[in-house]
Amino acid sequence: MELINIFNAPICEFETIDSTNEYAKKFSKQNPKHGTIIISKNQTNGKGRFGNSWDSKNENGIYYSIILKMNSKNINYETLPLFVCIGITKLFEEYKTSPKIKWPNDILINEKKVCGILCESTKNSHGEFLIIGIGINLLQDENDFPPQIKHKATSLKQNTNIPIIKNNFINRLTQYLFEYYNLFLNKPFKEFIPYYENKSYILNKQISLTLNNENIFGVVCGFNEFGHLILNSKNKIISINSGEVSLKNAYKNSEHK
Ligand code: BTN
Repeated sequence: MELINIFNAPICEFETIDSTNEYAKKFSKQNPKHGTIIISKNQTNGKGRFGNSWDSKNENGIYYSIILKMNSKNINYETLPLFVCIGITKLFEEYKTSPKIKWPNDILINEKKVCGILCESTKNSHGEFLIIGIGINLLQDENDFPPQIKHKATSLKQNTNIPIIKNNFINRLTQYLFEYYNLFLNKPFKEFIPYYENKSYILNKQISLTLNNENIFGVVCGFNEFGHLILNSKNKIISINSGEVSLKNAYKNSEHK
């Protein structure tokens, strides 16, 4: 099956590349069309959030970036990654799985990570571009994951009986991105909070959150209209706009033992 881009923009396909996000950032200097997709069978330097790497050797995974033009100064793009995450969650649901969202935009199935999203922006003389990098564990078997991530990674194939055709899945992914990008433009995130909270992996749980080398502990109370996390930390309600959430050690160090 052929890859189709519903954004009506090019699809740049590679066998191997360092990182589709890095390529997309460089490519932005050539003023690519809104919705241009960069996809590679593997990556030699896949990047994750907070300087982590993303295991990308296996061709059973999806390594995909889409370039979106940030045309309007009046739009706050802060919630777009959460819309994207909801769209991808819907796609996993098509395969009769029960995905959960680990704020802001990791997707887990049966407590293990199946999808990670890395959003980066870049500015040049043509304007500002948002690069949404998506890594999906699609067809891997358990032994396809390196030992250091085996305990926390899973693939869609490991969790569904429905046959997965890679290019078909990628086309559905682009369709969902198109749909949820348009929802982002036309509806406030507030309307999606009930769905987001319903799918949340961390709602009402004790977490620890690392931000700028600082650890914050607390219980997750919900998410607000900006997509921020609302945390009850030492009986103070705080909202947090970024950070790496962990459920490990959350009890050990919290006031809510
Ligand atoms: C994370 O969970 O930390 C985000 C992982 C994002 C990985 C994808 S794979 C395609 C794109 N290119 C990269 O180098 N990273 C993203």
